[in-house]
Amino acid sequence: MLKTSKNIVLIGFMASGKTFASRELARRLNRERISTDEWIEKREARAIADIFAQSGEPYFRKIESEVVREIAMKDNLVVDCGGGVVINKDNLKALKANGIIFYLYASPESVFRRTRGKTDRPLLNVPNPKEKIQQLLAVRDPHYREADFVVDSNEDNIGKVVDDILTILNKSS
Ligand code: S3P
Repeated sequence: MLKTSKNIVLIGFMASGKTFASRELARRLNRERISTDEWIEKREARAIADIFAQSGEPYFRKIESEVVREIAMKDNLVVDCGGGVVINKDNLKALKANGIIFYLYASPESVFRRTRGKTDRPLLNVPNPKEKIQQLLAVRDPHYREADFVVDSNEDNIGKVVDDILTILNKSS
């Protein structure tokens, strides 16, 4: 059990391990887990890829911001954020107000290795996904680094990522 009731918020690029780490973290902390993407899909009753294809990215970002604001008003959660949540500064600000933010850092190489051949991430369904990952990560990395803590997530070892997060939390909260 943690002393803090603040949300534990995981941010980072696509395929940085946020989903698995948030599940394991929620289990170990006995907290509820919320994923912005899952919340959006439920609210829209369609998959992320369909929202992008049918309504476009700006619409997705609008819903994403609304969902972030709703989640940020709760507490005692483990929050799994979609990779693009940090694009909007207000999103991160809202999450920070009542949350401890962890950036799960995965290099472009790790992301490419993990997402290769998958089609569920519309932003990477492009002719040259490797280049796209490099470009997007270069733009986003400074935003991700506004997190309270950075945890290396390049090894395919989610247990270790969760151990690192818990060590930090036990020291700091
Ligand atoms: C996105 C990341 C995805 C999802 C959407 C857009 C992004 O979430 O929100 O496809 O802009 O990085 P994951 O980071 O969970 O893959």
